[in-house]
Amino acid sequence: MAYNLTGKRIYVAGHGGMVGSAVLHRLRQENCTILTAESSLDLREQSDVRQWFATVRPDAVILAAAKVGGIIANRDAPAQFLQDNLLIAANVIDAAQSVDVEKLLFLGSSCIYPRMAAQPIAEEALLSGPLEETNEAYALAKITGIKLCQAYRRQYGCDFISAMPCNLYGPYDNFDPRTAHVLPALIRKVEEAARNAAPDLTLWGSGTPLREFLHVDDCADALIFLLQYYSDEKPVNIGSGEEISIRDLAEMVCEIAGYYGSLHWDETMPDGTPRKLMDNSRMRKMGWQPHIGLEDGIAATHRWFRERHGPAALWPVLRKPAHRARARAMVHKASMHQHPIG
Ligand SMILES: NC(=O)c1ccc[n+]([C@@H]2O[C@H](COP(=O)([O-])OP(=O)(O)OC[C@H]3O[C@@H](n4cnc5c(N)ncnc54)[C@H](OP(=O)(O)O)[C@@H]3O)[C@@H](O)[C@H]2O)c1
Repeated sequence: MAYNLTGKRIYVAGHGGMVGSAVLHRLRQENCTILTAESSLDLREQSDVRQWFATVRPDAVILAAAKVGGIIANRDAPAQFLQDNLLIAANVIDAAQSVDVEKLLFLGSSCIYPRMAAQPIAEEALLSGPLEETNEAYALAKITGIKLCQAYRRQYGCDFISAMPCNLYGPYDNFDPRTAHVLPALIRKVEEAARNAAPDLTLWGSGTPLREFLHVDDCADALIFLLQYYSDEKPVNIGSGEEISIRDLAEMVCEIAGYYGSLHWDETMPDGTPRKLMDNSRMRKMGWQPHIGLEDGIAATHRWFRERHGPAALWPVLRKPAHRARARAMVHKASMHQHPIG
């Protein structure tokens, strides 16, 4: 039976992030009340999280808060990626159960699947082989989140589900070159090279890995679809069903940004998994499909980046440092929100 969102109080954890922003935007089309917490609520702090849930008592939760980063950030801080994400998942899922949340959607990621999983990667590949070393810590925390949802379903009858999006991109992405994922890192590096009229540009890795990308607005639409129509312990992949090599992706970004210098590849930097295409047939069978093509989506994201990060040749680090004290709840009527995405 469908979960009707009308009149529901829906907490979006991580609403300031790329996925959370897109989910807020998408939820405003529903007749629901959106709940967010001030950034001072540290979801790693169990007692604060419990207290927040006890005060606010949401009906449903979309758990889009996580410590997220690209390949170098994951390689350099595995302890933090493992611990932060374990704590966030465990605290939110447990607090949700403690106040009888009716529905919870946990966000995992395609990196939970084994490094050499058969392609396209079906949901059944979970835990069938060794993980990619560069993001093993993050993946283990995310796998634990999925397992927590399954365990709370089995033990307490909670309607907690999990979704595994492929690589996402769009407005509010992290464009800090030290921690960004591949596509926002490419957009920033290419844009800088174009502005500086650099004759050549060196990019990380060999350029050969194949990756699948989905615009974050499509992802948000898929998440709201799942919240309404999916109720099972099996995780669900969310993808575009299309793959592209990093080299071709770089060429596409150069074309969009109007950069015509030469590209070089620094093969001393890690590539990650050679290929990562998800089997999205479960979503397709349920009747959902994406609408934003890769080239259009990158062009829109590039415009967004350019508008916000002006003509300066060097941008400051674009992410604010986490600074958290005690939390207060913020409650918004869906209709009261301004659209945060330009
Ligand atoms: N980006 C992708 O390509 C991708 C792909 C597949 C799945 N996902 C999943 O989607 C989810 C969201 O990713 P995203 O790309 O939107 O990441 P993001 O832009 O970095 O957003 C993460 C959000 O989580 C919040 N957060 C982090 N640590 C927190 C803590 N201890 N307490 C409270 N809030 C905290 C951040 O708040 P602050 O900024 O205030 O710290 C931020 O609002 C993650 O679960 C990720 O695994 C992302």
